[in-house]
Formats: sequence, C-alpha cells, structure tokens
Amino acid sequence: MTGKTIVLGIGGGIACYKIADLASKITQNGADVHAVLTHSATKFIAPLTFQALTHNPALSSLWSEENNLESGKSAGMPHIALADGADLILIAPATADLLARLAGGLGDDLLTTLVLATRAPVAIAPAMNPTMLAHPATQKNLETLRALGYRIIEPDEGRMACEHIGSGRLPETAELLAHIEAILFPNLDLAGKTVVITAGPTRESLDPVRYLTNRSSGKMGYALAEVAARRGAKVTLVSGPTNVQTPQKVEKIGVETALQMLEATQNAFQSADIMIAAAAPADFRARCIEPQKIKRGACKTAEISLIANPDIVAQCAANKRAGQIVVGFAAETQNLMKEARKKLNSKNLDAIVANDVTQAGAGFDVETNRVTWITAQTAQEWPLATKTEVAARIWDEILKF
Ligand SMILES: Cc1cc2nc3c(=O)[nH]c(=O)nc-3n(C[C@H](O)[C@H](O)[C@H](O)COP(=O)(O)O)c2cc1C
Repeated sequence: MTGKTIVLGIGGGIACYKIADLASKITQNGADVHAVLTHSATKFIAPLTFQALTHNPALSSLWSEENNLESGKSAGMPHIALADGADLILIAPATADLLARLAGGLGDDLLTTLVLATRAPVAIAPAMNPTMLAHPATQKNLETLRALGYRIIEPDEGRMACEHIGSGRLPETAELLAHIEAILFPNLDLAGKTVVITAGPTRESLDPVRYLTNRSSGKMGYALAEVAARRGAKVTLVSGPTNVQTPQKVEKIGVETALQMLEATQNAFQSADIMIAAAAPADFRARCIEPQKIKRGACKTAEISLIANPDIVAQCAANKRAGQIVVGFAAETQNLMKEARKKLNSKNLDAIVANDVTQAGAGFDVETNRVTWITAQTAQEWPLATKTEVAARIWDEILKF
C-alpha cells in the first residue's frame, strides 16, 4: 500500500477497538493512514492510540485548536487537505447516527465534511445492534448511501457486545483489509465480458396463498455477481425472491417462478459470454394453480399433482454458441461426485460446482461454502471459504478456459 493515502473514519460504536488493529496493519503495509474520529468515537478510544499507530495526527474536530496538535500540523482546513489527498476513505465502524448524517448530506463534523469534500472512493462498514441495523430508518439510509455510490461493507452475523445475536458485527480485520485492497487495486480481468448469473429459489404457487419453494438463500449467486461486477464484467443477475442486497453495478431481473427464470435467463444468455447457474429453481410446479385457497375440508390427506419444470441451465447450454461458457451448480445430499459428473455431461456444461449441502458450513443460507470444481479434465476439492472467496476462485478458473 506504499504511496496510498487512507483516511480511516471512526464512528462512536463499541467496535472502535477493532480499528486500532486495522490502522496498525495498513500502516505496516506502507499506507499513509490518517485517523478521523467523531466526537463520540473519542469516548471509546483515544485519538492518541491512532496517532501512535499511524505516525500521523489523529483528528476529531473541524476546528484546529480543538485537535490537540503540535502547532502547524494539519492546521487550517484539515477537511479539505484530507479530502484532496485521500485515495480511499474507509468509515468503520459506521454508527446508525453516522449513516443518517452521511445519507442526509450533513457536514456537521470533520468526518462528514470531508466525505462531502472528497472525490476519493468512500467505503462504509456499519456496525451496530441488530435491531438498530434492521430499523427501517437505518435500512433507508443504507439504500440512499448505496445509491450515492458509497460502497457498503456488509456487517457480519454473530454474537454482539450487547449479547444480542444477529447481523451487525464489524467484519474482522482480514476482511476489511481485503475490501481495502480490492478498492485500491481493482482487478479488472473480467472487463469486456458479459455474464448472466441465476440466483436464489423460485416460488411455484399452489393457490393464492401457498407456494412450493426451497432453502436457497441466493447468497452464492449474489457473491458471484458482486465479484464479477467488481472485476469489470457487465452482469445480469436473474434472481428468485431473496433478502440479499443487490450488489453495486449489477442489473438484477427479479423473477418468481422457474418459467419466468427460464425466459429471463434465455434472453440474457443470447448476448452473454458466460453463464453461471447458481439458482435453485424448483424442479416441479403444480399441474394447476387453484384459483381459490385450498380448504382443509373433511379430508385427512391431500394430494398435489406436479409437473416437471424445464431445466434452465440445460436448455441454455444446449443452444450455446462457440465460445460461450456455461457453469452449473450441483447441490447434492449423496453420491456428490457421481451426480455432479452426470450433470456436467448430460447438460453440456463446461464446469460444475458441486457441494454436499449436508456438510457443516456448506450449502444453503450460510456465509461459507465447501465445493468441488469439476470439469471434463479435473476435479479440485476446495477448502471451506466464504462465498465471496469461492466466487473469486470460480471466476479465476473460468478465465482459464
Ligand atoms: C456503550 C455504547 C456503545 C454503543 N455502540 C454503538 C454501536 O455499536 N453502533 C451504533 O450505531 N451506535 C452505538 N452507540 C450509540 C452511538 O455512540 C451514538 O449514536 C452516537 O451519537 C454516535 O455518534 P457518531 O455517529 O458521531 O460517532 C453506542 C453507545 C454507547 C453508550
């Protein structure tokens, strides 16, 4: 990171202590690091800590006489000097309050003022109690910030300092470092590629109130889309219903049923170089959707008649042009390798990502995955990794075709 100037914006949250470690690591990495604390942050951690770790003055006020600096250092207009000189502003932890002030365009302290005054990329890592994070006002502020082009680093899930369990933890230093590197040194090896990715489950209605679906969260497909967009690809994400945030620079087409997913995917595939089918579309749908809610009545049993849905990835791969690459996923509960190889061959795929969804940390609705990458020539078992790391590795392998 030598030659790069990073402003570390620190909000008044309990996760402040973690940022001292990050400040130390990026300074050791060669970056010129400037800590800017909100007034509340100084209640949690002393500016002196950052001053000692970064070898630069740590600022907490717009007004130079309040910054406790030796005379002459960063005097005058620190918000402009820092805003102009930064290659990146990382705000971590970003409190609910700070998100609101940034979303509102306020400049009521040094940190918010310098964010308004900079042209550098701004990354924001929110960290707070899960209920504060889920509050509609916080969610609306995050949406606004995304729309303004700020990069939001998604909080982790787990046990919080307040003893609640849920989403809102500041990611570990290693993950924050990975985000910083990705922003400072963007790898654009997918530039010029058009890709279509399917993600999530589908819903197949039985009657006006009920549907068939599955446990897919969509997280793997969204991670593939996010990494591809970050690496320069033009990405269309055809997604069933999920709770996952659409990554920046990704065109999302929301669908509900497998038939809708087929139509949207086939359309996008026509102009795509690469397709990855990470969705879990329903294999079957109801033969007929009841127009009225099915009543319990006197019967002790009920039967639903199902018909098979089309196989989306197989239909696309059957019509692929020379040069088009199609990668499928095989989520299995037994005979993983045998089933995956069968799908690779019968569906005319270039590669298949196989995962045994019964294994801990793999498969549905978790942040990690343990997969085997299979092509006609190889089968590589990859270790347990975050879905983002697995996605990056999948794209690395696809680029080798
Ligand atoms: C002990 C303690 C811990 C707090 N932790 C958080 C937190 O993790 N996230 C958060 O959004 N607010 C947290 N707050 C509330 C903020 O400190 C408060 O909203 C403050 O106004 C934030 O100011 P700032 O956004 O200027 O840093 C905490 C408050 C206290 C007293």
